[in-house]
Amino acid sequence: MQRVLITSALPYINGVKHLGNLIGSMLPADVYARFLRLRGQDVLYICATDEHGTPAELAALEAGLDVADYCSQQHDLQASIYERFHLSFDHFGRSSSPQNAALTQHFCRKLSESGFIEERIVRQVYSNADQRYLPDRYIVGTCPHCGYERARGDQCESCTRVLDPLDLIAPRSALSGSCDLEERESRHLFLRQSAFAERLRAWIDDHPEWPVLVRSIAYKWLDEGLLDRCITRDLRWGVPVDREGFEGKVFYVWFDAPISYIAATREWADRAPQSRDWKRWWQAGEGVRYVQFLAKDNVPFHTVSFPCTILGSGEEWKLADYIKGFNWLTYYGGKFSTSEKRGIFMDAALDEFPADYYRYWLLANAPESDDASFTWAAFAQAINKDLADVLGNFVNRCLRFAKSRFGERVPEGGAPGKLEDELAADLERSLASYTHCLEQLQFRRALADLRSIWTLGNAYMDRAAPWATIKTDRDAAALALRTAINLMRVIAIVSEPVIPKIAKLLADTLELGTTRRGWPDPFTRGVLEALPPGHAFRAPPILVEKIDDEVVASLIERYGGAELDPL
Ligand code: 2FM
Ligand code: ZN
Repeated sequence: MQRVLITSALPYINGVKHLGNLIGSMLPADVYARFLRLRGQDVLYICATDEHGTPAELAALEAGLDVADYCSQQHDLQASIYERFHLSFDHFGRSSSPQNAALTQHFCRKLSESGFIEERIVRQVYSNADQRYLPDRYIVGTCPHCGYERARGDQCESCTRVLDPLDLIAPRSALSGSCDLEERESRHLFLRQSAFAERLRAWIDDHPEWPVLVRSIAYKWLDEGLLDRCITRDLRWGVPVDREGFEGKVFYVWFDAPISYIAATREWADRAPQSRDWKRWWQAGEGVRYVQFLAKDNVPFHTVSFPCTILGSGEEWKLADYIKGFNWLTYYGGKFSTSEKRGIFMDAALDEFPADYYRYWLLANAPESDDASFTWAAFAQAINKDLADVLGNFVNRCLRFAKSRFGERVPEGGAPGKLEDELAADLERSLASYTHCLEQLQFRRALADLRSIWTLGNAYMDRAAPWATIKTDRDAAALALRTAINLMRVIAIVSEPVIPKIAKLLADTLELGTTRRGWPDPFTRGVLEALPPGHAFRAPPILVEKIDDEVVASLIERYGGAELDPL
């Protein structure tokens, strides 16, 4: 059986992430990892904080902390939030690790030995007031094309033209506002990406099964022609460039960040070197299937830049076998924004509701084929209807009735008949489709199937009506409850990737232990008879609490709602 390596895009270190970041990479990756583990597959799910770059330095400055201390603090904070969201990383590492420094320098050396690195002189803007080189987007001025006065040095927001900061009229520092800027020349390393155009195109051509979103962005970049890319910067914070004449320079954050996927795997292995081997995951050829999860703005870096690093090294590192890309989740149609603190962020979200509520809603509305919009009303409606009325109600009414009439044991009596055969057939269909959608990473469709599995419970209970049959036919009532409790077992298992906490509560209620938790094969007979008569269960817990209208109104008041500008 192939092993599966999973990575989700590395969240930037500066600040707690919002729900859009969660559904755009980490959450679906987690669902996939959990699903495969339940099926008994050997999985390694790796993520890390993306800690280098100017935004991290500036955030540290604002917090009044040394950048390394700031990053440590923020890493721990993010790690704890992800744990509370039940993200089941095998390792959550850091791009500032020594492992990443060593690997980044290694890749540069290999690229250089193969002739893919060139030294070039670059003109750059230095701010005397800030005492630092300014990245393009930290220089603002008047756009030479449209006259917009607050154009950024990389791109004009008004006319969208891509700019060179040196073209700006009356440029100033976006940090201090100072106009005391000067142009300086500096030596930098360029990765000759253009040399890889054909190999990259062949690689994308080879993967017609990837999402259209990912392939179309990749082809657009290839069609426009690949530019050689400057992979070093005149900054202090980052992976040092270990090359003569480059003292005091660091690698560009987008060069070292994807290498962190490998480095974080090495961090994982270094924690238990006797039993773990990181190269077994990254240099295993066909033995490993490597799946990446990321949002659409990251697609160029994963279909072009990082593959150039891998291919150019001339070594046997894995390229992605599948890239799952996502569109944007918006907040009331507007942008979630870390810098403007707009939308609902992961820490605040957990102060309001359990993680599973968000997991369910986000996956059911995953921005796969298009952008999706989060609103509190839609969120509350889905929780009330799907989680509380359908799932919660089924579990509650069934176990309560069973307990009151037969005690806390799976009831004995009756033999499966037409109703049970029909339920088994419906379950087979929905479960087969659900399993297939998860295999194919079709999350929205998978969630619709999961919902339909939950719905089967209430529909069966309505038809079998044990509260009516018990009056005349105790065996018929026993059969109905036993079958329903067995369906509940299936539900506890297959809901786990999506709502792990609720699923565990249900599994514990049914005392599933460790032996009755493997992914059910939809086509195996007897799925609805795995829990035999006499098997003990516990009193039904409250699985889900409803969200009422006043709460929704208060959420809108506190976090903002319809008044936000559209995207
Ligand atoms: O866009 C982002 O949030 C980046 N921090 C993603 C990096 S992914 C990887 F390549 F490191
Ligand atoms: Zn302009």
